[in-house]
Parts: sequence; structure tokens; C-alpha cells
Amino acid sequence: IAFGAPQRAPAWWRGRRDELLSLAGKGTPRYVYDLATVRDRARSLSATNAVDRCFYAIKANPNADILRTLVGEGFGLECVSQGEFDHVFATLPHIAPSRVLFTPSFAPRREYEAAFERGIIVTLDNIEALQRWPEVFRNRTIWLRIDLGHGEGHHEKVKTGGVAAKFGLPMTRFDAFVEEARKLGIRISGLHAHLGSGIEDPQHWRGVYAHLAGLADGIGTIETIDIGGGLPIPYTPEAPQFDLPLWRAGLEEIKAAYPRYGLVIEPGRYLVAESGALLLTATQVVEKDGVRRVGCDAGMNALMRPAMYEAYHSIFNLGRDEANGTAVFEVVGPVCESSDVIGRGRTLPADTAEGDVILVADAGAYGMAMANTYNLRALPAEEAIE
Ligand code: LLP
Repeated sequence: IAFGAPQRAPAWWRGRRDELLSLAGKGTPRYVYDLATVRDRARSLSATNAVDRCFYAIKANPNADILRTLVGEGFGLECVSQGEFDHVFATLPHIAPSRVLFTPSFAPRREYEAAFERGIIVTLDNIEALQRWPEVFRNRTIWLRIDLGHGEGHHEKVKTGGVAAKFGLPMTRFDAFVEEARKLGIRISGLHAHLGSGIEDPQHWRGVYAHLAGLADGIGTIETIDIGGGLPIPYTPEAPQFDLPLWRAGLEEIKAAYPRYGLVIEPGRYLVAESGALLLTATQVVEKDGVRRVGCDAGMNALMRPAMYEAYHSIFNLGRDEANGTAVFEVVGPVCESSDVIGRGRTLPADTAEGDVILVADAGAYGMAMANTYNLRALPAEEAIE
């Protein structure tokens, strides 16, 4: 742990074992979200004057109770598809369109049209859309997403900048975009960059703001600079808490240097990951070639992250303590894929057995949102608690 890094508070669910066991009794797999944790994370981000607006990236978890909680905290909502923004207006019919941001990637033309009809903020990241569909964009106000030339994040698969990534307008085409937009009477009122997810360096966002502010000065119509999401959470027991005070100080400093622009962030994971626990039921314990495995009633179908990114999630046996000692287990799911492993080399109570309730921690972001019905397994149940 880095010197001076803030201490980690115990997870919300540690003191609420009986309640969770009774929720698991209603059926597993089941995602449980603690709304007080969501609110706490939201307030920790709002507590700085440097950030003018926060949009929650609902792709992390579009659960209706979570959306209502975050909008109640003053957040806007960032959407990547028409499915997401239609869901936002169905869930919160009275939300102001200016609090909804559409940041699509290779969306069909009709989704841009629908977004303009709704009056929400639209971000564009290529010239070709302007050239092929000039009538969709003529005389509109848009934000422009830039590829700053490199990506960041916890895994190659979540880096969204650089030549290998499909996102963002490269700097080589910046002038051409501005010219094309001018011809169509388009006003570029925002600049946006999101380089990836799970970025550990607290100074990253300050650098993005400085870069975009430099570009904005040259355009003249920019009011808003959106520095993306990507704030990390500590998934492993050794990981330090993200240094929020340092993050804040960096933004305050750079905002003071370029005070003309509204600063926008669009985090997903940071707000919701730690609020979510995935409850599973152990199905079988099997030993094979010296490896002891505990199987659960869901795996990569309910939580893709370990299979897709080798992501780490802490795993606990909720119903047993370690009175009878511990043993090392591989925790697996029931899916017909060798990658269906939730965690390797995990220390659990030695008497872990069929029927035990297994808790997979920090599963509130990109958990249910990426769940699927592979092998015709049912989607997990979901509920939010206070
Ligand atoms: N803004 C944009 C334009 C994004 O593409 C994303 C995430 C976010 C904001 C929010 O990023 P966050 O604050 O949550 O890092 N499934 C992967 C993460 C994919 C992120 C996709 N874009 C995972 O489970 O790690």
C-alpha cells in the first residue's frame, strides 16, 4: 500500500450476512446492490468544484434503482445506444434531455436521428458520418470525441485509444472535421476523450483536460470538456484505494489554468462496482488431479469479467466460517467452456459444500450488464437494497 494512500473501509455486505443469506434463499444466481454505497461513491465525486457535471455511464449497470439513485444525486446519464437512452426515458420520464448524453460507437443512422429528436447531447467521433448523412447533422450542436493517440486501462480489451481502437477521431483528421462541420453549420460545443477503463493514475484525467483544453482554445465554440470515465476500484485485497484527493487536486489545478470550460466526467465502474454482490449457490465440490473445485450455479454467464479480462473478484463462503480450517479452491461455473472460472487459488472454508451460498464481491459494474443466457441458463435475479 502506497504511503499516505487512503484506508479502505470494510465492504457494505460484511455485517449483513443473515440478510444476504435470506435473499439468496429466494433463488440464485442473484445480484444485490447496496444503494447507500452508490450514493456514497457519487458524493465522493461531486465533492469538488473542479467537476461541473457528472454523467453516469449506464452501460456499467442500467438497473432502474441505481439510475434513480444517481439522478437523485444530481448526476446525468451517459448512453451508448438507443436501447440505453430509451430505457432512461422509460425509467425517468421527467429527466431533462440535457442530462442525457449519447456517446455511440458505429451506431446506425436512425439512432443519431432518434437522439436529436429526444434533444439529448450527441457525441460524434468520425467525419464519415457527416459526409454520408449531412442532413442528420446540419445546423446541429454536437460534441466531438477525439482519439488522443493511446489507450489506458486494466486490460488491453478495455483500452479505447490508439491505432488498434475503433473509437475517436484521430488528431490527423481534426482540422478536416472542424472544416466539414463548419460547412454544415454544425456547432461543436464539447470536446470528449475516454481512453479506457480502470485507469490507476489519478493524474490521468488532468492530462486529458489539458490536452483537450489546448484544442478547444483553437476552435472557439467549445463550452464543455468531457474527460471520460475510467476511474478504478480496488478489486484485489492488496490494491490501494484510488487516491481521490490527488485526482481532485489535479483537476482543480488544471481547471484553474483553463477556467473557461465546463468540466464533465462520465464514470461507470467507480460508482457502482463496489455496491454489487453476486450471490451463487455451490452445486458440487470435485477434486481432480490435485485441484479442488467448487462449482456454482452460475459462472461466466452471470459474470463475464474473469473469463474475458482475467479480472479478479474476491469470493467468500457466506454461510460458513473458517472454524474447520481452510483449503484452496478453484471456483467455477456450470458453463461448457474451460474459461468458466470465477477465481483460481482461492482460500475458502475447508468444509465448503453443496448448497453453500457463495458471494462474489465488487460485481456491481459490468456484471448483470454483460450477463447472458449461454447454455440456456437463466439470467440472474437482481435487487437493490438500502
Ligand atoms: N465513457 C465511455 C465513452 C465509455 O466507453 C465507458 C466505458 C465509460 C465512460 C465508463 O467507463 P468506466 O468509468 O466504467 O471505466 N466491460 C469492461 C469495461 C468496459 C468499459 C466500456 N466503456 C470491464 O468490465 O472492465
